Amino acid sequence: MSDFEAIKQLDQFSEVCDWLAFKGWSEAEGGNLSLRIDKEDVPESLRSSESAATQLPLEVTAIADMYLLITGSGTRSRDISHTPEADLGLYKIAADGKSYQWIAGNDKPTSEMPSHCAIQNEFMVSRPDFRAVVHTHPVKLISLTHIPEFHDPKVLSDTILGLQSEARIQLPEGIGHLPFQVPGSLELGILSAEEIKYRNVILWHMHGALSVGTSLSHAFDQLEVVEKAADIFWTLKKAGYAVDGMRQQDLDQSMDYFGRTDRYKNAFSDKIERDKK
Ligand code: 13P
Ligand code: ZN
Repeated sequence: MSDFEAIKQLDQFSEVCDWLAFKGWSEAEGGNLSLRIDKEDVPESLRSSESAATQLPLEVTAIADMYLLITGSGTRSRDISHTPEADLGLYKIAADGKSYQWIAGNDKPTSEMPSHCAIQNEFMVSRPDFRAVVHTHPVKLISLTHIPEFHDPKVLSDTILGLQSEARIQLPEGIGHLPFQVPGSLELGILSAEEIKYRNVILWHMHGALSVGTSLSHAFDQLEVVEKAADIFWTLKKAGYAVDGMRQQDLDQSMDYFGRTDRYKNAFSDKIERDKK
C-alpha cells in the first residue's frame, strides 16, 4: 500500500462516490468533492512537496498551510473507489493563501477548484467543524431550478422541505438557489462560499447541487434528504395532485419539539439583511 493509500479519509471518498454513481447523480465526469484533512492524518512523507506552486484565482488565507483531498477533473465517480490514487489528489495551500502545491495522487484538480477553495476557506472563518464539500447533478434537484418561483430560496425551501416531516428538521435554515454562473467560474465559487455561511445545501441554476458537512457522508446525507423531498414534489405533480405540504401548525410543533424554532424562523433573515446592502 502506498503512503497515499494509507490516508484513512480515502474510505469516505470511496463510499460517497460509489453512492453518487449508484444514484445516477454524478453521470460521466459530473460532480466533484473535497475534504480538509488535519496534518496528523497526512502521512509524514506527504506533508511537504517539491512541486511548483499553482496560483489560485482568490486568496484563501484562512486555510493557509492546510491540506485538502480533491477529486481530479474529468474523473468518474464510479471509478474512485477502485482507483483512488489516480482520481484523488492531495494538495497543500501555501502559507500566504495565494497558491497551492500538489503533493500526491491525481494532479489535475476539479474545474470547480475555485468553489471548493472559497468554501473550504469560509469553513475556517465561520464554521470550522465543517470540512467536506460535495457537488453533484441530481435530476430532481436540477429540475426544481427550472421553476421560476423556486428562484426565491424561501419559496423553494418552504415548499420542498415542507413535503416530508423530517426534511426541515434536518435543514432548518432551508436550501439556497444561485442564479446561473459558468461552471468552474470564480463567480460561482464566491457566491457559493457566501451562501454556505447560512445554508448547508444550495442548488446551482440548471447545473446541480452542492452540499457541505462535517464529513463527506454528512454532506451526502443532506443531499439525500432534499432529493427525497424533491421526489415527492415531482411524484405529486406527475399524478396531478396539488402540492400543499405539511400544515404550518404541524411544522411549527416539529420545530419546537426538536429545538429548531429559532433556526427555522430566522432562516432567511440573512437574505433580508443582504438585500438591504
Ligand atoms: P470536473 O470533472 O472538472 O470536476 O467537472 C465536473 C463538474 O461537475 C463541473 O461542475
Ligand atoms: Zn457540475
